Amino acid sequence: MTTPALDPQDAHLATIRESAKAVEERFGKIPDTLVVAGSGLGAFAERMTKTTAASYDDLKNFPQSTVVGHAGKLIVGEAGGRRIVLMSGRKHVYEGVDVRLTVLPLRALIAAGVKTVILSNAAGALNRTFQPGDLMLINDHINMQFRNPLMGPNLDELGPRFPDMCTPYNSELLELARDTARREGIRLHEGVYLALTGPTYETPAEVQMFRGIADAVGMSTVPENTAAVHAGARVLGISAITNSHVLKTGVVTTHEEVMDIGRHVSDEFCRLVEGIIARL
Ligand code: HPA
Repeated sequence: MTTPALDPQDAHLATIRESAKAVEERFGKIPDTLVVAGSGLGAFAERMTKTTAASYDDLKNFPQSTVVGHAGKLIVGEAGGRRIVLMSGRKHVYEGVDVRLTVLPLRALIAAGVKTVILSNAAGALNRTFQPGDLMLINDHINMQFRNPLMGPNLDELGPRFPDMCTPYNSELLELARDTARREGIRLHEGVYLALTGPTYETPAEVQMFRGIADAVGMSTVPENTAAVHAGARVLGISAITNSHVLKTGVVTTHEEVMDIGRHVSDEFCRLVEGIIARL
């Protein structure tokens, strides 16, 4: 398996369009709703019906994820009674690629007709009231990856040079998610997601500092949100809280633990997202 190199920036729009054409050739008309399933949340795919799937390896320019727990498949099928497209797995900047490559599949899917994007991730709790196994609606974010997928020449055909980010997560979708959680009896926190590059988890001193600025911390989602907002799509973000941070040296966080709790919370996550999709 080889990861495709990012084309020179002046060819990037062509690369996105080439990928959009490839997904349309493979799946036909692309549904207007995209779900991106993060670590341990791949079970969403198993509950979908009438599915067609393709490995990222078989889709032009799609970078394959190298992370355990990310299937690396694009799936079109039904969830919540509607046709959607699911990215089961994503590429992260910590895998060592340009941030623009991490958002290429999402940009291609928006070029192919996606208008609503539901992003999900596994995240560590900074907020002391959050427990592993909880869900958090992302109502804002902080980008401490210090990379932005919009750096470089602006792709004017997709969106403006200086996109406004005063509402990074769509207000109507946030309200719909809150209401769906209430109806389904799902406890749903709300808060600010802090994106770091990883792949290291946070030190106790970092946790102490980050507690002042955010509720949950992870290694994804913000680049995709940025590219989607730039391209005019509306975005919802949901974190599955997989671990909490205690300010004590020697308390270990592992990817296995993150995956395990991700699977645990996955039933509520699936019910919430299906409920939201049904009411879009
Ligand atoms: N930190 C960063 N990313 C994560 C964490 C965390 O504690 N848990 C799951 N993804």
